[in-house]
Amino acid sequence: MMIPVQERLKADIERWVKKYGCERSSLLPVLQEVQKKYSRISGHAMQVIADHLDIHPVEVHGVVSFYQFLKEGHKGRFEIRLCKTISCNMAGREQVARQLENELGIHFGESTPDGRFSLEWANCLGMCDQGPALLVNEQVFTKVTPDKVHDILADFKKMMDVNVFQQVEEH
Ligand code: FES
Repeated sequence: MMIPVQERLKADIERWVKKYGCERSSLLPVLQEVQKKYSRISGHAMQVIADHLDIHPVEVHGVVSFYQFLKEGHKGRFEIRLCKTISCNMAGREQVARQLENELGIHFGESTPDGRFSLEWANCLGMCDQGPALLVNEQVFTKVTPDKVHDILADFKKMMDVNVFQQVEEH
């Protein structure tokens, strides 16, 4: 009898979680196994991994976009786009914009000297009732405040450093 792909995937993920442990640090190795065997990381896979590692699916999604970005040779470059359309504007996008510029030390339309972050305006992202809305590569952040900007950037910098560290270790 053929086992449906989703069941096979679930069983594989369970096996890998057992192998690497159900800690947060197992996220990347498990994702790499899924990518190796299935050549992609589906939404369903992300959900199953999130359940097993007890991590929010949004976080899993963030790591997946980061990981895929690296694989595609973008070398950890993050494109940040802040919605400039009316609802987000009224919800406080100006303070968020200033915080982004201050934290990154660049203006909109520019990239950081190390090429890791670029800052752009976006038109409506369809999250108008949850503005200000922000996109980092493919990942959407809503109800962004200046404090949240700091946390978001800190998370991406941390992910980048972990990865650089791993790449150094591999060589
Ligand atoms: S106005 Fe910003 S998401 Fe629609």
